[in-house]
Amino acid sequence: MRIHLLTLFPEALAPFLEHSIPGRARAKGLLEVDLVNPRDFTKDPHRKVDDRPYGGGAGMLMTPEPLFLAMEAVRARDPNTHGILLDPRGERFTQAKAARLAALPSLTLLCGHYEGVDERVRTGLGLEPLSIGDYVLSGGEAAALVVVDAVTRLLPGVLGDPTSVEDESFSAGDGLLEYPQFTRPPVFRGMEVPEVLRGGDHGAIAAWRRAQSEKQTRNRG
Ligand SMILES: C[S@@+](CC[C@H](N)C(=O)[O-])C[C@H]1O[C@@H](n2cnc3c(N)ncnc32)[C@H](O)[C@@H]1O
Repeated sequence: MRIHLLTLFPEALAPFLEHSIPGRARAKGLLEVDLVNPRDFTKDPHRKVDDRPYGGGAGMLMTPEPLFLAMEAVRARDPNTHGILLDPRGERFTQAKAARLAALPSLTLLCGHYEGVDERVRTGLGLEPLSIGDYVLSGGEAAALVVVDAVTRLLPGVLGDPTSVEDESFSAGDGLLEYPQFTRPPVFRGMEVPEVLRGGDHGAIAAWRRAQSEKQTRNRG
């Protein structure tokens, strides 16, 4: 998969993309990341990318031209890339959405900043607005990293054990959250790993996990 990230802060994203799952996916040749700075597409000596909103109001908006030019440069190299605008007004990002995006060959994530982005960027470039939750971040960079991470770990071959994504929270067909997990030691500061998990009875373990998953899911409401 190829992921293009349009951001005013490529240097802030780069270190994250070198480590953990995205870093591993890149090392295996399963993910290609392309960082594009819209500021490089400005035509004025101050490399200005923002301006005041028509109609008044607080803050500045990202202007359309550098974003159009940056997106058009990406599309010239990768014509079928799916364009997304990180936007608190967009459809909520979920595990199901991550799975749908992971099936695509290429994504372009546009990170807004300041008070947001001129509306013509979304409409004129045909971008899909996507929100990572009902809160406002100061920029789309953290949201883009959430999307990159959740999508990358679903790419075939990225995780050592492909079954590890199958029974995770939100992933199984029944929508249940994951059961509690334990590792060694069997007793830590007086807290014991449940007996059933140490017994080796796979039927009993599966039943215990199912019951715990249902309880976790019920408790979260
Ligand atoms: C300060 S926010 C703009 C918020 C906008 N004025 C509003 O009220 O909807 C700046 C940028 O951060 C990003 N952003 C903020 N919250 C986000 C969220 N929950 N999901 C995705 N992106 C978000 C978007 O790219 C947005 O353009």
